[in-house]
Amino acid sequence: RSVGIGRAHAKAILLGEHAVVYGTPALALPIPQLTATASAGWSSHSSDAQGGLSFTMTGSASRAVVTLASDGLQRLAAAFKERMGVPGRPHLDVILDGAIPPGRGLGSSAANSRAIVLALADLFGHELSETTAFDLVQTAENMAHGRASGVDAMTVGAAAPLLFQAGRAEELAIGCDGLFIVADSGTAGSTKEAVELLRDGFRREPGAEERFLTRATELVEEARRALADGSPAELGSRLTNYHELLRAAGLSTDRIDAMVAAALGAGSLGAKITGGGLGGCVLALTQPELASEVARRLHDAGAVQTWVVPLRRLAPHA
Ligand code: MEV
Repeated sequence: RSVGIGRAHAKAILLGEHAVVYGTPALALPIPQLTATASAGWSSHSSDAQGGLSFTMTGSASRAVVTLASDGLQRLAAAFKERMGVPGRPHLDVILDGAIPPGRGLGSSAANSRAIVLALADLFGHELSETTAFDLVQTAENMAHGRASGVDAMTVGAAAPLLFQAGRAEELAIGCDGLFIVADSGTAGSTKEAVELLRDGFRREPGAEERFLTRATELVEEARRALADGSPAELGSRLTNYHELLRAAGLSTDRIDAMVAAALGAGSLGAKITGGGLGGCVLALTQPELASEVARRLHDAGAVQTWVVPLRRLAPHA
């Protein structure tokens, strides 16, 4: 093949972020309308100053993300070549078109990495197992986040909402309809910094880690049951409770809190920050008839963009 193509989508965490890094469960949702696409081809230039790779990124990514992704890509490509037994040092051009805004808790780093992994596999004509694709994405994720649970790497390739724990995922049972409004605060947060901030807090305050993880596990389990039983109001209040847990741990921002309050004021069943935190997005659960009002109030409170994500299984990837 002369060109390989790979795609992956964004994700939002319903509940369980941060605690999931310590091995407790999380619920996560694929966001199919935000995708990263990578193409990989053989390079005409022969310099191997960057390990035989040249890298171009288009789309909305910031300079910092391009640098990080570029470093990550060197590791990813090296791991790929070693794992797949690709001989020599092939010179490659990789172009990444990332439509997922970075640092917003939407899994841009995992989706970009997965798109690249799939593009390389396609170029080399390798049938990748899901396990291998996941491991390779985790190589880049561990570098980007310091210590990544794997929930992002798993969800950016998933076709349905997932229950994730300790590297394993299963499809969530969904007994109710509902819409999520994902609203971007316009401010990026670093997942790596957020994970470190929480760990430092746990170190300073004896018992804090256990209290946080116990409460997180309870809320995730109650939300999972509410989803399966078809109780959207119950699910909504667990989302808001989880926001309080993350806010108390110092992971929210004033704008995010204002957006959460605006969504709830507009009749949302529940709302929370989603993902790494310290910026990023709000996730609000709403009945379909209130969706446009919830989105409008989120914009009034500072959201720069909103997306509507239905709570259901996706059609297979085109
Ligand atoms: C980031 O989307 C979710 C975190 O729990 C980090 C991780 O699970 O690796 C904050």
